[in-house]
Amino acid sequence: MKIHHLGYAVSNIEDSISEFKRLGYKEFGKLCVDELRNIKLQMLENDGVLIELVTPLSENSPISNLLIKSGNTPYHICYSTRNIDFRVKELRENGYTLIDSPKPAILFNNNKVAFMYHKNMGIIELLESNQ
Ligand code: NI
Repeated sequence: MKIHHLGYAVSNIEDSISEFKRLGYKEFGKLCVDELRNIKLQMLENDGVLIELVTPLSENSPISNLLIKSGNTPYHICYSTRNIDFRVKELRENGYTLIDSPKPAILFNNNKVAFMYHKNMGIIELLESNQ
């Protein structure tokens, strides 16, 4: 599957945007609040590579626990897929657990995203996309 972006959990998104910019990243789209997932997001781009900064909007988010345990850290790779329901089914048959079922994501013009977990992989995200 083609890599779409790397997801990166951060405690203070504004401060992290500044820090990534110092290393040559540029903002790719706008700062975005995803009420459904209780997170704030900013996509950054550097030489064709997309990094998605993710910060929790409240302390009861799973991202909050991750930040307490690991500090700012990359935590998922997102892959594009043309048919998310098919891909979820296929990965479940191969030992992945669905941790967040396919739902529209405001960051991606309401294209659907899902999160899955495998013990030998960690967390992956799937993004339904024609590309
Ligand atoms: Ni992501």
